[in-house]
Amino acid sequence: MTQYVIDGGRPLIGTVLTSGSKNALLPILAATILYGGPCEIHRAPHLSDVENLLETLRYLGAKTRFCGDVITVDTSALNRYDIPAEYTGRCRASISFLAPLLLRFGRCSVAYPGGCAIGARPINYHLEALRALGNFRIMENSYGVEVQGTFTGGYYSMPYPSVGATECALMGACFSPMPCKIENGALEPEVEDLAGFLNACGGHIFLENGIWQSEPAPFSAHTDTLRYSVIPDRIEAGTFALAVAATRGEGRILRCNPDHMKGVIRLLAAAGAEVVGSKDSLYVRGRNRKLRGCDLVMAYPYPAFPTDLQAPACAFLATCYGKSAVLDTVFPMRYAHVSELGKMGARVSVARAPGGERYVSIVGGMFRGGRGESTDLRAGASLLIAGLCGKGRSIVLDQGYIARGYEAVCEKFRGLGGRIWENRIY
Ligand code: EPZ
Repeated sequence: MTQYVIDGGRPLIGTVLTSGSKNALLPILAATILYGGPCEIHRAPHLSDVENLLETLRYLGAKTRFCGDVITVDTSALNRYDIPAEYTGRCRASISFLAPLLLRFGRCSVAYPGGCAIGARPINYHLEALRALGNFRIMENSYGVEVQGTFTGGYYSMPYPSVGATECALMGACFSPMPCKIENGALEPEVEDLAGFLNACGGHIFLENGIWQSEPAPFSAHTDTLRYSVIPDRIEAGTFALAVAATRGEGRILRCNPDHMKGVIRLLAAAGAEVVGSKDSLYVRGRNRKLRGCDLVMAYPYPAFPTDLQAPACAFLATCYGKSAVLDTVFPMRYAHVSELGKMGARVSVARAPGGERYVSIVGGMFRGGRGESTDLRAGASLLIAGLCGKGRSIVLDQGYIARGYEAVCEKFRGLGGRIWENRIY
């Protein structure tokens, strides 16, 4: 258990450097299996989810090294195609190994993935993608899934633009003998980054009129080193932008890509913050500005407002005068942070819309500091923002969620003048 201790009530002022994207890096680590040789992945953040996937790659027989922000992975000597629950249970992205193992071995056995408790996390769309793009025998049991067969190419119209299932389909399409078309796929920047990596591995994947497509490409192992740099983490950058505005500070988020952050930029501007994007940084000012709530913020698939910033946005809106409502259409149950924000002084509750959808009802006010517990990765971030806003001392208890997605979070907030420390309590 980690205890974050925060003496809040001070504006965050200064600059902060964004790390590389966790949600781009995780599927790319699995995709190194499709390169079959040495890969150097740059701008890699030190996160527990990343360590978990590196451990899984080593279990499968890969060689890995993590030095500075560069991960080196060599999957030429892969010698296993099964991944037990002790590995997959820690991280949702473990499901990303499905397609690469099938391409390399023609079979795999992967236990069901874990991940944040933010709602149902089924893998039915992943399995539908395999059926649509190949000839596979798929056996599910209480433990996980066993698959045998080969990718053939084909057409898959996704029932929902699932990020993970799109990534599974792209990795399966990459070296299929026939062309592939994946309609209604996810368009998140992290999916595009994976496609870029797969093309660097020798694939021919492209997006045309919103439809992912691939041309046949031969798989072959490599001996030359593939070097690739992941995109900036738009969710981390958005979290810091919301924190600066929530504390009525002024700051510049460096090494980010504002083009990937339009949803959160729109929210901050609508609330009355000053927000100015440049090529690779974002300036945010809440200082001396009377920020107002937003009638309705809805989380949808990209390029709309992202579900991963829904909880941090609730913390921000709890400091803006007037009423706000936040509805998550991606994970409709992702509201466990609401009661915890309430323990820190926010006037928030989960309400029901006339259509029955649950949403967060917020009345702007002041955080007073208090004690909350992280219920998932982004909920933890929202509690850190609440503690930084609230006058006095706050304690945030966390079972390792925050470290899964935010690299050096205390150092980064301290760099902005935040007074925040972390203790391992047991
Ligand atoms: C990815 O999860 C991200 N994780 C999540 O970030 C993010 O919240 C999510 O995409 C949405 O953007 C990683 O990239 C490692 P989905 P993923 O498949 O792929 C339903 C974070 O905080 N669904 O797009 O699991 C599902 O239940 C994490 O960094 C099915 O029904 O998300 C959900 O309601 C949290 N069947 C919706 O689709 C399936 O087979 C979106 O899920 C797959 C998904």
